Amino acid sequence: MQIKPSIRSNIFTNSHPLGCQAYIHSLFKEASFFSPFEGPKNVLIIGGSSGYGLSSRITLAVNAKANTWNVSFESRPKGERTGSAGWWNNIFFQQEADRLGTYHKDFVGDAFSQSMKQEVIENLKEKNVKIDLIIYSLAAGARSHPQTGELVRSTLKAIGEPVEGKTIDIAERSIKELVVGAASEQEIQDTIFVMGGEDWEDWVKQLSQAEVLNEGVKAISYTYIGSKNNAKIYREGTIGRAKDDLEKHGKSIDDYLKKSHHGEGLISVSKAVVTKASVFIPRIPFYVSTMFEVMKKHGVHETITQHKHRLFADMVYGSKRLVDDQGRIRIDHYEMQPDIQKEIQTLSDAYENEKIFQLEGTQQFIDEFYQINGFYLPGVDYEQDVDLEHLATLEPR
Ligand code: NAI
Repeated sequence: MQIKPSIRSNIFTNSHPLGCQAYIHSLFKEASFFSPFEGPKNVLIIGGSSGYGLSSRITLAVNAKANTWNVSFESRPKGERTGSAGWWNNIFFQQEADRLGTYHKDFVGDAFSQSMKQEVIENLKEKNVKIDLIIYSLAAGARSHPQTGELVRSTLKAIGEPVEGKTIDIAERSIKELVVGAASEQEIQDTIFVMGGEDWEDWVKQLSQAEVLNEGVKAISYTYIGSKNNAKIYREGTIGRAKDDLEKHGKSIDDYLKKSHHGEGLISVSKAVVTKASVFIPRIPFYVSTMFEVMKKHGVHETITQHKHRLFADMVYGSKRLVDDQGRIRIDHYEMQPDIQKEIQTLSDAYENEKIFQLEGTQQFIDEFYQINGFYLPGVDYEQDVDLEHLATLEPR
């Protein structure tokens, strides 16, 4: 069957397996040009099938020759359903990584669950492996309550007053006016529960108690600060509260790992990039399009893999760590330069209508959105039938 892009409200409802294969190949190829660095030997990535978790996994596997364990929540192909992009990313990651001569393991299931934590710990014990780096890179819409089993959902809402704004409808190539409602207290608490740091700390402590962490182990998670361009929907909204909580747990993980393993807990403030989680956030498509335009013009644009390579090579394992007064790693410093932010604001104001589609930054934003789901990849013949039945026999390892 032929597979054509299917998008609803800026969310892909399908993926192209052969496009995902080409995408993963391109990320490995890109990483092969980056410099090697002395890093961790064994890395556990929670949320490593796409976005920041995937790019972290690739640069650590390629440039630091690390072994990786990845936990992700992805859907397999079934009948006419293609499966999610992350499903194929896991499979094709393994195929590319075969050439590295290192060990890579995938667990597909719910990272929030106790059974998944247990499964990972058992595998590490069986292999007699101790972890040097834990990356917590989940972007989740819901989390089951560990005690009650109730499914709690996160929301992307404003706090206090509703916020009016515009976003890009990618499938229709149009601008949509939107009002982002004000969250109730319950919605704020629920978003903190899903996207905050409690589960991260739980992972770290359980791994430590199971004695599968190495001396000097590091744990890192990714936050976003942004600027007044996107503050109302991001840092001052429900997701911002969850990030405050993540950062608070980061401090407590830091204290814990320092005492237990002479290790450290880290928060990296990362830049805005195109991922399935970010595109879905109202206004972010506008912001990222104009940000691409401005950062490229000033020669400070980085791809997602470059960004994570610089994070680990320079700031986590290297000697060029930039931290703010709260101890957070500020790898987002190019995006946050005042003159860059000012220019993004001016451009957003001038182009806050259909003119946005004239910008190269917007074209790049749209292309990347298709590419992370396996479409628009050079060299892939999208008119060809895809043998989904055969591909469905491939399993993550
Ligand atoms: P993404 O949507 O590309 O990746 C999310 C990952 O979480 C996937 O591997 C997915 O399978 C996994 N996941 C979700 N629910 C799960 C569950 N219940 N069990 C196991 N795995 C699950 O998201 P993205 O954007 O890479 O986000 C990762 C982190 O980076 C998030 O904390 C996000 O806030 C942060 N971040 C993202 C930025 C961006 O611009 N995309 C900027 C700064 C920080």
